[in-house]
Amino acid sequence: MTGRRGHGVRKDLIAGNWKMNSTHLEAIQMVQKLSYRLDVADHDRVEVVVCPPFTALRSAQTVIEADGLQIRLGAQNCHPDAAGAHTGEVSAPMLAKLSVRYVIAGHSERRQLFAETDAIVNRKAKAIIGAGMTPIVCVGETLEQREAGDAEAVVAAQLGGSLAGVDAPAISGLVVAYEPIWAIGTGRTASADDAGSMASFVRSTIGSRWGEAADGTRILYGGSVNPGNIAGLMAKDDIDGALVGGASLDPDQFASIVRYWL
Ligand code: PGA
Repeated sequence: MTGRRGHGVRKDLIAGNWKMNSTHLEAIQMVQKLSYRLDVADHDRVEVVVCPPFTALRSAQTVIEADGLQIRLGAQNCHPDAAGAHTGEVSAPMLAKLSVRYVIAGHSERRQLFAETDAIVNRKAKAIIGAGMTPIVCVGETLEQREAGDAEAVVAAQLGGSLAGVDAPAISGLVVAYEPIWAIGTGRTASADDAGSMASFVRSTIGSRWGEAADGTRILYGGSVNPGNIAGLMAKDDIDGALVGGASLDPDQFASIVRYWL
């Protein structure tokens, strides 16, 4: 596959969600190894983001800045408040000071394991935007919901709740990750057609509320993305990139995903 269908103003974005993996020392090596496998042309074409655990952010930032890398830094979560008596939490302004540009909000693991509701995700998204960063807002249905024919209704409700009150300029800079829960970490990917039609549904749902701003929103697919399935996913008009879990821990695999057209 050469080139890609025009996505207008939207630049491809491939983000690696490392989840609770890597010490800060391992993170330095992973960022360096990834950087050796990517060249200027790759970065021109794709925005490459890594989301290490909080404890590795400072080290990753240091290597990115010291070596002048074009890899961008993301975080996996934040608290909605800027500061206060919230033992163990990390705020958006703290992340912004580490040159973090993206923060994942409402990953399904946080929704399921930490009881994050759309209202909480909404507060986080606003805090992230308020601190000058870009949220990667995650939505996606369970297998039961898909089999019951409710996938679109579930995703529409998640979008409505998670993005309530966000203004149009922020929507046009926003990233939404459509991640069907049954495809995360299972090796089971949504077919490119299913993923593409859900991405189109996400864009039209955002468009019905925010109009043209939806044309700027980047929509990622996530769930068992690997070097073998990425090209088919990226061929879809409304899929602007991927949120990659397991395969992002291996710099070779992650670099192959970034260079999906080769
Ligand atoms: P996976 O995870 O690629 O390991 O399925 C994706 C995610 O949870 O963002």
